[in-house]
Amino acid sequence: MRSVRAYPFGLAAIVLATLATGCTSEKVVYRSGTNFAAPPAAGANFVGYYDVAGKQTVCGSCHVDFQTRWSKTKHASAWADLQASGGAKGYCEACHTVNNLGNFAADTAVGFRSTKADRYHDVQCESCHGSGLTHASAPSSANRPLASIVSDTTVTSGCGGCHTGSHDPFASEWQKSGHSKTWAASYKSTDPYCQGCHTGQGALANWGVKGNYVEKNNTSNGTKNMVSATCAVCHDPHGSDNDHQLRFPLNAPNLEANLCIKCHQRRATAGDVVTEPGNTRNSVHSPEGPTLLGNAGWFPPGMSAADSIIGTHGTPSRNPKLCATCHVQSYSGTDPVTKQQVFYTGHRFLATPCVGANGLPTDDQTCNVTAQTFRSCVAGGCHGTESAAKSAFTTAQARIALLVGQANTLVTQAKAGPKKAECTFAPNVTHTTCTGTQLNVSLANAPGSFVHNPFLVERLLIASINQMKKDYNLTVSASINLAPQLSMPVRIAGGAR
Ligand code: HEC
Ligand code: HEC
Ligand code: HEC
Ligand code: HEC
Ligand code: HEC
Ligand code: HEC
Ligand code: HEC
Ligand code: HEC
Repeated sequence: MRSVRAYPFGLAAIVLATLATGCTSEKVVYRSGTNFAAPPAAGANFVGYYDVAGKQTVCGSCHVDFQTRWSKTKHASAWADLQASGGAKGYCEACHTVNNLGNFAADTAVGFRSTKADRYHDVQCESCHGSGLTHASAPSSANRPLASIVSDTTVTSGCGGCHTGSHDPFASEWQKSGHSKTWAASYKSTDPYCQGCHTGQGALANWGVKGNYVEKNNTSNGTKNMVSATCAVCHDPHGSDNDHQLRFPLNAPNLEANLCIKCHQRRATAGDVVTEPGNTRNSVHSPEGPTLLGNAGWFPPGMSAADSIIGTHGTPSRNPKLCATCHVQSYSGTDPVTKQQVFYTGHRFLATPCVGANGLPTDDQTCNVTAQTFRSCVAGGCHGTESAAKSAFTTAQARIALLVGQANTLVTQAKAGPKKAECTFAPNVTHTTCTGTQLNVSLANAPGSFVHNPFLVERLLIASINQMKKDYNLTVSASINLAPQLSMPVRIAGGAR
């Protein structure tokens, strides 16, 4: 077991002015003769470093951009950090050096494990790409050592080869999350549009990652071996300008630039629902991004469609990690029974998980609110106490449920009235008050909407109810207060929708 463990909560902003080149524009610089001394036979074709002190990999002598980027990642200091921890033991070394972990080497007695040579210190290129002596000696497309983007806990080839076990349970947590099932969730759709968000290959292709990897060409026949949203989808294995090697920033309040929102934004506005090619449903699909940023739903005539209604949760100056503040929250604790330290990496992506006695999320996530933890609301610095956050949660939930009930009642009445034709949605037809109200109910009912942006959802429902009342001559229950009850949003701003 590891004796050292730390989960930094702070954002040490790494702002690099520019990266020389992205991974898509890499130029192989072919040097005259590869710069390395032959590796020991027991290394089993792993080449490792040719300059240990300079952290110069053999691979990087040709792939210079990759070398530059990788050298700034924590993988490049894995050995030094292990030694500096004061807890280094023999059994710690495998995950902090080059060997079979992370790649397809069939034998375990390879690289550092069989030689203990310095050239195999750190998590280098070959940790993920596998042994490269043949390729480095005479590079060709036939012998290029491709990495895998799989993060399955059942294999050691991939990030899960090291990011696993009770102290680093990234892979096992991810496996329990919806992100390990994104392809299955889309009913294994072969449509490239669906695959762009529901498969690893589709997302990487959409995002301009052009290089090859083992599973890349599995897309050729659509349904074979597609992977879900794995580690290498969110994290750039070669490093990036963003903390934790994320491919895109977390703080961008922008549909196209934010890591999470790039996927979590399919059909959220009235315009999306009407214009999405082939769409026949008057409902939202992954509306979380636009909801957080204040633009989701149908804006009734009483509300300006140019406005966005944004709360603290969607304001980067107040909530710098946006989605990740609530959904990727790591912590450690002590199990009251075993007295062992336990770790949660946040990679189940649960905002307010049901937790067991040891403080870790339970497999069954269908508990009562009293068994949920609200620590992510407090750790973000937004809410003073967990109970204050819980109370805001239940208040918003009840208020939105009340308004949804009223809106549904009015829709039912309108469907029985003289203008009932206005209640039927048709593709490419602008929303009526009745179909718009139904869309807002779909948005309000989407899991998490009442937390993502309670102010927007409340105001959309109130305006919908008022408009239903007016257009269809209906009566609203006297017990429903149609003045906003949830506290004020941070801002109501005119802006592009
Ligand atoms: C199963 C593979 C594995 C083993 C075995 C392992 N580590 Fe690590 N170690 C990792 C991974 C993965 C990370 C990065 C996790 C992160 O950033 O949260 C890491 C990070 C670290 C770090 C730097 C970040 C931190 O949390 O402080 C130190 C220091 C460290 N390990 C020390 C050790 C020591 C000491 C041992 C043996 C007692 C050990 N490791 C055994 C996989 C392992
Ligand atoms: C002597 C220079 C040289 C060295 C050393 C070298 N490579 Fe390459 N690498 C190349 C060239 C040239 C290509 C293009 C081969 C082709 O497709 O014909 C290539 C291709 C690749 C590719 C495939 C890229 C793609 O998108 O198709 C990967 C992955 C790769 N190398 C990884 C490595 C790794 C890992 C190492 C270290 C074990 C390494 N290379 C060492 C020159 C080198
Ligand atoms: C050979 C073992 C090994 C493999 C394979 C491996 N890692 Fe790591 N990873 C580590 C260790 C050890 C550290 C901690 C290094 C340190 O802090 O000293 C680490 C650190 C990281 C960090 C840095 C976290 C931070 O706070 O910046 C990220 C992100 C990461 N790994 C992602 C990945 C991804 C994604 C993959 C697969 C594409 C992967 N790793 C494969 C061992 C591994
Ligand atoms: C933590 C695991 C990991 C490490 C370390 C790593 N790679 Fe990769 N590499 C991958 C994965 C996964 C891919 C495919 C996804 C991608 O391109 O982002 C890849 C893709 C590549 C490609 C093909 C992409 C392209 O644009 O041509 C090359 C070349 C490459 N790596 C070289 C290297 C070199 C050289 C190093 C060391 C300096 C290195 N890698 C370190 C995991 C890793
Ligand atoms: C859906 C996107 C996503 C996926 C998939 C994902 N991560 Fe992460 N990961 C994140 C985010 C976001 C953070 C940063 C959280 C923060 O800044 O607080 C992070 C942080 C990390 C860190 C640094 C954590 C720390 O406390 O030092 C490591 C290491 C890591 N991830 C490894 C992995 C591995 C391994 C996998 C696959 C098993 C994986 N991630 C899958 C989004 C993702
Ligand atoms: C590559 C696209 C993609 C990215 C990037 C992505 N997600 Fe997801 N996410 C999905 C899909 C698809 C699902 C639905 C999976 C399912 O229902 O099984 C999902 C499900 C979820 C869920 C429900 C989790 C569960 O276990 O059911 C949460 C919460 C979530 N994502 C949050 C995030 C956060 C936070 C980020 C950014 C750190 C993020 N996602 C990045 C595609 C993505
Ligand atoms: C722009 C990205 C994106 C596109 C394109 C996309 N989806 Fe999704 N989808 C998501 C996200 C993110 C989720 C999870 C969040 C949610 O359910 O609100 C999701 C959820 C789902 C779910 C619900 C899964 C569950 O477990 O509840 C199904 C089913 C689904 N998508 C099918 C499809 C199909 C079929 C297509 C193609 C016609 C498609 N999606 C296109 C992003 C997308
Ligand atoms: C202020 C905290 C917070 C922020 C910020 C936040 N969420 Fe959530 N999210 C929650 C809570 C709490 C729930 C669960 C509500 C419930 O229990 O019904 C949730 C639910 C979800 C769900 C549905 C999960 C399920 O089980 O079906 C998805 C998907 C999701 N959020 C994605 C996102 C994305 C993507 C972002 C960023 C655009 C985001 N969230 C921002 C707190 C947050």
